[in-house]
Amino acid sequence: MADKTNELKLAFAEALSKVNTMEELENLRVEYTGKKGYITGLMQEMKNLSPEEKKVFGQTVNVLKDEVNEKITEKREELKKKELEAELARMPEFDISMPPTLKRGSYHPITLVQRQCEEVFKSMGFAIEDYSEIVTDYECFEALNIPKDHPARDMQDTYYLENGQLLKSHTSAAQNAIYKKYKDALINEGKPIKAIFPGRCFRNEATDACHENTFFQMEGVMVDKNISISNLIFFMKTMLSEVFQKDIKVRLRPGFFPFVEPGFELDISCLICGGEGCPSCKHSGWLELCPCGMIHPEVLKAGGIDPEEYTGFAFGLGLTRLAMMKYGIKDIRDLNSGSLKSLSQFTDDK
Ligand code: PHE
Repeated sequence: MADKTNELKLAFAEALSKVNTMEELENLRVEYTGKKGYITGLMQEMKNLSPEEKKVFGQTVNVLKDEVNEKITEKREELKKKELEAELARMPEFDISMPPTLKRGSYHPITLVQRQCEEVFKSMGFAIEDYSEIVTDYECFEALNIPKDHPARDMQDTYYLENGQLLKSHTSAAQNAIYKKYKDALINEGKPIKAIFPGRCFRNEATDACHENTFFQMEGVMVDKNISISNLIFFMKTMLSEVFQKDIKVRLRPGFFPFVEPGFELDISCLICGGEGCPSCKHSGWLELCPCGMIHPEVLKAGGIDPEEYTGFAFGLGLTRLAMMKYGIKDIRDLNSGSLKSLSQFTDDK
């Protein structure tokens, strides 16, 4: 009997050394320690032995059984380790113990100022509207009192599609649609039209530190009975002081835009040079930030609003300029550069 135990022990050791997978290991375990396994078989053979022999043999078989179980557990661990190693070998090489060094994504400085402006205007009851970047000639020019061949078109040369549509040269291109959207509520329910519409604009422009062919504006309009220039100035000042969190020097100059009458240029004192003059402000100490004015009667008419009864103001805030001022960005071209080194610096701001 002792020989049998020994044989089994050797056979098991040999079989175990050939095991390469978990499945093979499980089969071996059943083969030896399962209900119909060899070791269980040995136990059953005990019934033919004398009590003395039973005791000795029982002990030997139990030792064998423990040994087999132990070896199986060891092998299982070994196989698990191998599986893990194989899996790791299939993965791209990286050190999983390394602390994460990748920086989180960040908002573009223009997005940051856009959101700040939106918050300020939202708190003053303005709706925020989105509008397409591809518009018609009517939306961009005709509805804004800029007929074909009007010289004002020269300043706003842009990119034309083959079908006659164009990339909007200013956010004013959405004015007509906004008036049409809200005019019924204005006329029937007396709800003033108050909306801002930020957007990307395009112009055929020779680029330099303060000109780009792609830039952002944020248009704002307010239409109601008895709206005057004081309303315009109030909203502009409130917005600027919120965005810059300090008193900003502004000046209003007359400005010509066919869709406002009277029209103004709202300038702010250059925050990069403190008003002394630098390339960003064309050495004037002032930056044109927000052309604005009282909406031209023809423009209201084109939007389905009677200019005899209603008046309104419109402004076209230069979001790109504003971002440059706020963050001290000296060259407008950095904003479209895609350079994360420059553009990711402002995130903590919000
Ligand atoms: N759309 C004009 C521009 O981009 C700016 C503007 C908007 C002027 C609204 C007056 C009123 O040049």
